[in-house]
Order: sequence, then structure tokens, then C-alpha cells
Amino acid sequence: MADYEHHSYDVIIIGAGGAGLRAAIEAKQRGLNVAIICKSLLGKAHTVMAEGGVAAAMGNVYEEDNWQVHFRDTMRGGKMLNNWRMAQLHAQESPDRVLELEQWGALFDRTKDGKITQRDFGGHRYARLAHVGDRTGLELIRTLQQKAVSMDIDVFMECKVLRLLRDDQGAISGAVGYWRPTGEFITFSAKSVILATGGVGKSWKYTSNSWEGTGDGHAMAMWAGADLIDMECIQFHPTGMVWPLSVRGILVTEGVRGDGGVLRNSEQKRFMFDYIADMFKAETASSEEEADKWYDDHTAGRRPPELLPRDEVARAINTEVKAGRGSPHGGVFLDIASRRSAEFIRRRLPSMYHQFMELAGVDITTTAMEVGPTCHYIMGGVRVDADTTATAIPGLFAAGEVAGGMHGSNRLGGNSLSDLIVFGRRAGMGAADYIEGRSGDITLDAAQVQAIINESLVPFSREEGENPYDIQRDLQELMQSNVGIIRTGSELDEAVVKLEELKERANNVIVKGNTRVYNPAWNLATDLPAMLTVSTCAALGAQARKESRGGHTREDFPKPDAAFGKVNMVLSQENGGGMNAPVKVDPQPILEMPDDLKVLFEEAK
Ligand code: FUM
Repeated sequence: MADYEHHSYDVIIIGAGGAGLRAAIEAKQRGLNVAIICKSLLGKAHTVMAEGGVAAAMGNVYEEDNWQVHFRDTMRGGKMLNNWRMAQLHAQESPDRVLELEQWGALFDRTKDGKITQRDFGGHRYARLAHVGDRTGLELIRTLQQKAVSMDIDVFMECKVLRLLRDDQGAISGAVGYWRPTGEFITFSAKSVILATGGVGKSWKYTSNSWEGTGDGHAMAMWAGADLIDMECIQFHPTGMVWPLSVRGILVTEGVRGDGGVLRNSEQKRFMFDYIADMFKAETASSEEEADKWYDDHTAGRRPPELLPRDEVARAINTEVKAGRGSPHGGVFLDIASRRSAEFIRRRLPSMYHQFMELAGVDITTTAMEVGPTCHYIMGGVRVDADTTATAIPGLFAAGEVAGGMHGSNRLGGNSLSDLIVFGRRAGMGAADYIEGRSGDITLDAAQVQAIINESLVPFSREEGENPYDIQRDLQELMQSNVGIIRTGSELDEAVVKLEELKERANNVIVKGNTRVYNPAWNLATDLPAMLTVSTCAALGAQARKESRGGHTREDFPKPDAAFGKVNMVLSQENGGGMNAPVKVDPQPILEMPDDLKVLFEEAK
């Protein structure tokens, strides 16, 4: 290993969003030698895109709230495909994790009597989202980052991991990567690796995800032999900006609707009343008068339909636009200006105010926003044990968006930030327990390392080939049109074929400018294998799930099917997999919920 910069740790954590930072803090508190590796700058993660709040049944605004109600909301929001144990732990532990953030310096907004205040979000029975204006993710990451830095946790910034390494017993042994600024290679040996790499949204054309969201952790886990589940379950957040085109997809927080914003079509109709699914009818207002009463007093009337779960709202917007009732730039109108004072809007939604003013020249205190669905989050991910976050590979753990199961087929807003801190902590504990039980030194296989490095350098050696940006653009077009918000069998079949063609093109990618120093084309060339792998998994899962459930909607199978509701779509490759290796899709039974939890759903009827 002498040729490369090399480091040795007990635990390396790949990804420095909320889950990665929280995992690092936990592992460090257990006395371990810990490093965080992130391909971006520390503090820049998709965590900041969870703007409106962190969901936790603290009961500060409604005393009636408790973990059982939060658990039930989460399961119903996920259309019961969730790993019930993850949803239970999440609902039980998130209040303590929020209080812990407060002790570590997070400055939440307050109720009049000084408690952490909580706002409404879609699918949550009670006002449950602790928040800092509309910058909650930013505050969460700032707090965790400050805590981690104060604990002397090593951070490798702008360092891209290419592959995980396993020893001859199959256990995790480390990772290989490179420094993005210099292109120099780096190896890590580690007794345990925690994946906290976030999501996959950059494979779609319109997304709230930034350049980092290329599915590296999902792909690396599967290439190393771990299972992925339910990769077809992708969340299109109902409200992204649609205009100007250069910023299409940027998130407009659900907090706008939580704070009273309503959706209207080009006829100025509050169309969401036409889209209330049977399972939500009992708790959703059926007229504007009733909905408006609820905004003023939650005990008078039922919830407005704008606060249905995200999958329901995104599909409704999509239908309105397709029916020719959209806004001038292909979205619908989100109006808070006619319902709240300018002072209220600027205080509660300061980022939204600035975002629209700066990017679109729109003053949201006087004018309705134009919004439409944007690829925001993947519910599917690495299959993990709920309590420990362990994958099937000894020593490999996964937490946050990269892990599957917690959110079923649709995530409720605000449940991502709480997921990060609940399961980030559990990943740190899981890795620490694993390390306590293992023995022996770690040695990396030099030939394995060299093969990974050589593979990453091939694009420099070609005389001719494809520009990585052309492949990325065509991938994003394909995923947006064929594996988007509404899917059909024929389009999915076409996507699967075209993805293989894109892989062929990626096998022939060329990078010009004979240098690895600050070479974004090479950086993208090394991201493409993961992007194509996760896209293939999403398309194959969507092809196999012949029903509509949560974020996965099939035009040719428009209803949920009870048989599919009992299975996870498990995706795997043989050990030593990679972009070109075949992916197997295998429906396997979901975890059976125990009777004492099933009762909660009976009681709510
Ligand atoms: O709308 C939002 O503020 C996003 C929150 C989330 O994805 O949890």
C-alpha cells in the first residue's frame, strides 16, 4: 500500500450529512478511532434540503401526540411497506434526539411558554415538526458538525470513495478513493464502515438533490454483496420550483402548506379537494370552509387536503398539469400571500422569501409561487437490521437515506431529519458493538486496491470515446421520462434496455485534459457507474412491482395490490459486482408486524 496515502481507523463513515455526523459522534463517544469521509465540503449535504422541520412526537403543541400516533402516521404514509421495527424505534426515540440537539446548541423556534414549537406537515396527525424557520436541516447539520469538530473526529473533505474493500473472510476491511482537488489516491483500512451517503436524485432531470446525490453508497453496498430493497420507491416532492428553468427542481418547503399555503390550478380552484383517497377521507376536510377553520383551530374541523401525504399531492399536481390546468410554466400555484401577512411569511419562511425573490424575482408575500413535483428522496436503499443498522456484510452499516425500510413506499415530510439522528446514533452503536466482538488486524489486498485504481484511470487512456456529460444528460432524460412520477410497463421495459445501452457508452467514456487535478469530467466519469447501477435497480424494481403504492405509481396497475404489499423487492448482485454485473430482483416477505402494534391500526378505525 506504500504507493498511496493510507490511513487506518476503527470506523470510517462515508458521508457527512446528519446521519454520518451523528454516527461519528456516537462511535467517538464509545472510544473509537473515527474518520468521516465526504466528497463535498463538510456541512454541504442534502440534509439542508429538509427545510421545514424534524418530526418528533414531543407533544409540545398538542399534548395528545405520542409515539404510537407518530408510528401509525409513518406506517400509513409509507402504505404499510415500512420495516415496522424501524418505524417504531424512530417514533419512540426521535423526541430524545431532538432534545439532545437542543442541548448541543440547536436554536429551535419556541412556543409562547418557551417550549420547542412544532408545525404541521402532510400526513402527520398533529403539529409535530420542531423547526428553525425554514432552515431546520441547516441548523441540524451546523449543530452536529460543531459537536463532531469539538470531539476531534478526523474529516477527509472532498474525498470521493470509489469502492469498499472486504477481507478473505468476507468482512469489511476498508475503502479506496481519491482526493477530488488533486486526484491523488487514498486507502483506508477500517474494522467497520458506516454508509451515510444520502440519495440518488441526480439521475433524474428535475431534482432537489445537489451534485453529490449520485447513489454512491447504494451502489457500493450492492457491489460489495449487500442487498438493496424497494429501489422503485422514489419520492417526488410535490413542490419544487418550476421556473426559471435554470433552477427547476429546487425545493419549496412543505412548511409553506403547513403554515397555511394552498394549491390552486389555472382556474384558481383549490383542486386538492378532488383528490382525497378513501383511506384519508375520514380525517380530511371536504370543503374550503372546513379546511380553513382547521388552520385557525385544529380542534375545529378536519385537516386541509393540501396536507395529505406527498405522494397523493404530487400525483394530483401532475394530473392537473396534464389536464391543461397548470400554471404558465408547467406547475400549479402555491398561494400563501392571500392567506398570511407579509410579516408572518418573512418570519416563518425566510429562505423561501429570499429564494423566490433572488431566483425568480417573485415576492411571495404578494404573489403565488409556481410549483411542481421534483425528485427529492429515495425510500428504497440498503437492507439493514432495524436495531443495529447492520447490513448482511460483517462490519458494514448504513443509516439515513442510503438505508431502506424505514419509510416504506412513501416518506412523510420531517421524518428524514429524525431518521438521520435516530439511526445515525444506532449505526455508531452498531459499529462499536461489532468492533468489540471482533479480533485480528486488518490488511488490505494490494491487488484488489490496484485493480480499483486502474479501472478508474481507464478513461484517460482512450483515444476516442464518449463525453461523461452526454451520458449523464441522457440518463437524466431517460429516468425523468420513463421512471418518473407515473410509470407504465412499456416505458419501464424501454428504460431497462436503454440503461444497458448507457452502460455500454459508460464503458467507453473518455476524459480529456491529461490531469486528475480539479478534473470535473473525471469526477463525473467515476460517479457514472453508481448512477447507472441505482437507476437500473429503480427501473427493475418498478418493472417488478406491478401495483401502485406510495411513491411508485403504475398507470397500468393503478391500485395497490395486497400481495405486493407483503413483499420487499430485493435487488442483489453476486459478490464482486459492479455496474456491468447483472442485478437479480427477488420479491421477499416483509417483516410481520406484532399484534400489539397491529392493534394501533384497529383502534384508529
Ligand atoms: O419540505 C421540506 O421542508 C422537506 C422536508 C423533508 O423532506 O423532510
